[in-house]
Formats: sequence, structure tokens, C-alpha cells
Amino acid sequence: MSKFLKIAHRGYSQILPENTIPAFLKAVESGADMIEFDVHLSRDGRTVVIHDNDVDRTSDGSGFVKDMTLQELKELDFNFLKIPYPGKISIPTLEEVIDAVPAHIILNIELKNCPHKYEGIEEEVIAILKRKNSFNRVIISSFDHFALEKVKKTSPKIKTGMLYEGGWIFFRDEVRHLDVYSIHPAIDTIDVQQLQWARSQGLQVYPWVAKNIKDILFLKKYNIADGVMVNNLELFNKLKE
Ligand code: G3P
Ligand code: CA
Repeated sequence: MSKFLKIAHRGYSQILPENTIPAFLKAVESGADMIEFDVHLSRDGRTVVIHDNDVDRTSDGSGFVKDMTLQELKELDFNFLKIPYPGKISIPTLEEVIDAVPAHIILNIELKNCPHKYEGIEEEVIAILKRKNSFNRVIISSFDHFALEKVKKTSPKIKTGMLYEGGWIFFRDEVRHLDVYSIHPAIDTIDVQQLQWARSQGLQVYPWVAKNIKDILFLKKYNIADGVMVNNLELFNKLKE
């Protein structure tokens, strides 16, 4: 039986500022197998790691990512939780994350492409992965299934992951059409039979986000996941107790 993967959602985001290098390194130190994070494009076309379309919630600045250059974004402080982490935390670029996180950790790169559509984000991410020789350590996921299609068409070797919420009538058709490696359902909207079918087809299943041990035990009871995303990696330790 393969290992049930511990997936750090936005890094160890329960205790450190989400989508930052300190949160990613803490996740690695705490036993994560995979790190999920979100990418957008800056005004000058750089791939930056942040969840929201704007910087307001997670930094000391304000404005849309698409309207700011990388240099302007780098001036902001993302140490927004005011937790006991010393000093300023800068927004990371995708390249910086690839360099900082040990190579055995899988990187689940979520392309954010809605409501703002970033023209060329797929090509830009693929170019970075090519330069960094990182195809074999990533999954590119997105709610934008057109973006996943584009990734697959451009680089068939890259693993893609289908993000979705809710039950879907055309679920099987979509999965086959996209030719994805994994599916990433919202945990609260899981359809057990759909996931059983997906696993029987050899797909990896990574739901998001387990909030408590009950959520994880549910996935294990029905044998419907290959891992799960969490903000709090401590949940996996509690599971062993
Ligand atoms: O990748 C799973 C999950 O992160 C998708 O939702 O809003 O947290 O990016 P969100
Ligand atoms: Ca995400």
C-alpha cells in the first residue's frame, strides 16, 4: 500500500504566514511530503507565490498583484500574522521556492487564473520548471481546467491536478478529457463513489483541506484518498496517538 501523503496547504500555514518560504521550510521540517501553494503573475510577468489576487490580506501593502512589479511586491512585508517570527518576510517567486525546498518534496503549484486571467501564466510556469529541471517534482493544479489543458498540450510529461468543488454530472468525462494525474476535491463536497471510481482508474486523490482528525479518518475509512491537504500538520501526529 502506498504512503498516505501529508500535504502542507500554503505551507505550514497554521503557524507561519501562508505561502512564504518560512512556512514551506517549517512544513518540510514537520514531515510534509508535498507542499501546496498558489501562483500569480506580477505586472512585469514574474511568477509570484501568493493566494489572493491582491496583497491586502497577507501583507502591509495594498493593491492587485497584476498591477505591481516584482520589485514593488518585494518591498512589502508578508510577516502579517505578527507571530514570533523575526524580521520581514518577502513574497517568494516560484524560482525561489524551487531552490529553497528540498528536491524530494513534491510541489503542488496551483495556477490562479480567476477572476483575473493571467495571459501566458502556463507557459511562464513551464519555462521556469524547464530551466530548473523540475518537471518530475511538481503537480500543476488549477480550478481553471482550460489552463490544465494548455499545460498538458505544451508539456505532456508534467503532472496535472484537477481542482473542483461539489458533485459533478460530467465528472468522469472531464477527468478523462483532461488526462490528469490527480484530482483535488473540496473535502466538504466529497462524493465517495466518485473518488472510489477515480482511484480504481489509477488517479491520485488529494482532498483539501482537512480541519480535524475526523476528516482524515473519514478519508481513511472509505479508502478514498492518497493524501490530504492540511493547514495544521500536527493533525497527522495526533492520528498516531
Ligand atoms: O489546492 C487546494 C486549495 O488550495 C484550493 O483552494 O482557495 O485554498 O486556493 P484555495
Ligand atoms: Ca490553493
